[in-house]
Amino acid sequence: MSEVKLVELLLTAEIYNRFNELSEDDIPKEMRKLFYGKSGISRPLPVKQDIVLKYVGKFDNLIKKLPFIDFNTFTKQLKLTSLEIATKWFAQRGVELIQNNPVLAYYYENYDSLGVSYQEAKKRNKPKYSDREWLKSIIAELEKDEETAEMLGLVRVFSPEDIKIEFSDVVLDEEQLEEIRKIEVAIEEREFLRQVGLIDIGKLLFIGPPGTGKTTTARALSKRFNLPLVEVKLSMITSQYLGETSKNIEKVFEIARKLNPCILFIDEFDYVAKTRTSDEHAAVKRAVNTLLKSIDEINLVDDGVVLIAATNHPSLLDPAVWRRFDKIVEFPEPTELIRKRIFELSLFRVPGKFNIDELAKITDGFTGAEIKLVVREAVLKALARGDKEVTQDDLIEAIEGVKHRFRLRASY
Ligand SMILES: Nc1ncnc2c1ncn2[C@@H]1O[C@H](COP(=O)(O)OP(=O)(O)OP(=O)(O)O)[C@@H](O)[C@H]1O
Ligand SMILES: [Mg+2]
Repeated sequence: MSEVKLVELLLTAEIYNRFNELSEDDIPKEMRKLFYGKSGISRPLPVKQDIVLKYVGKFDNLIKKLPFIDFNTFTKQLKLTSLEIATKWFAQRGVELIQNNPVLAYYYENYDSLGVSYQEAKKRNKPKYSDREWLKSIIAELEKDEETAEMLGLVRVFSPEDIKIEFSDVVLDEEQLEEIRKIEVAIEEREFLRQVGLIDIGKLLFIGPPGTGKTTTARALSKRFNLPLVEVKLSMITSQYLGETSKNIEKVFEIARKLNPCILFIDEFDYVAKTRTSDEHAAVKRAVNTLLKSIDEINLVDDGVVLIAATNHPSLLDPAVWRRFDKIVEFPEPTELIRKRIFELSLFRVPGKFNIDELAKITDGFTGAEIKLVVREAVLKALARGDKEVTQDDLIEAIEGVKHRFRLRASY
């Protein structure tokens, strides 16, 4: 098996180096990750001893058995001495690997009767923009510009690989899922949308009270769509020197454009996009105008950027802002059914026997964040008692505790 993987690696490198029409996206993700350097992946791909070790898991004695491989002890580089022999050797042993390796599928597509398809292999392989190493190399490039580097300090950039939350960990209702599905197909069908002239697509506004999952959903979408996430809180880039704010907004959009395809997530959107009142400083108005203009000038079809903005004060938003989003996604207080599902998910790995229907029933008005808080409290309560099993009573008491917080808040 090790020999098969070694030959896969060498063949992939050799074929990739020969055919310029193959792109980095065609190299299998796990293999591609080994070739990232400071400025991305270079062509030709150098297969060195350390790369073999990482990909195959061992090196010693491997090449002795394979007469068509040459190892240069000085450069530590490996090469195929005969592509033809290697091709034949591999066709008898590695069909499954070829099916999942677009570079090889491309080469083998018309080879005898292997029946592999380049398009199919490509569909199964994740593109390079989902690699954390790709993102790192792009950011390193951007940081060479001093102003951009400064801006990068104010935004958070995540690779989908580094997002902890899974899409399946977020409980969403049918309407929310429907909007997400539409964005998903829009991403896949960008070319078609361009052809039919529908370019103003891919701008979502998440509205709803605190703790209903807006930020969590934006992050989970990065994972689900396999797109890097640029996350910025508008309060973070609003400078006391108001002239700076406009410039910062422009920079954020510029970064998103450079990282495309990606999701640009603007949190605390109302911080700038509030209705403009007549007595406000001219610079505030300018910042709002810059924001509107930036939103106008970016779109999924041309720029590869999905824009998501979130606010829990939608009523403060300028009407001109509303108009610019093609989708408004509501994050309401969860219904009993949604609360039930959030309890189910949160208690999934917690030992104990619970009546989740009852919990969902008595938590009217609780958000997802508060349900998580209840579970955390109940687990701590049990642990403090020296118990790893949580009881229904622990949960009910924790619920009462949160209700007490509600009353406290209301009384001030
Ligand atoms: N529908 C949900 N499904 C799963 N978890 C949820 C849901 N809603 C909220 N949560 C949990 O509640 C916590 C807070 O959620 P999140 O930060 O996404 O809320 P938000 O809507 O962005 O709030 P804010 O408006 O205050 O920024 C997270 O830990 C999240 O996992
Ligand atoms: Mg949030």
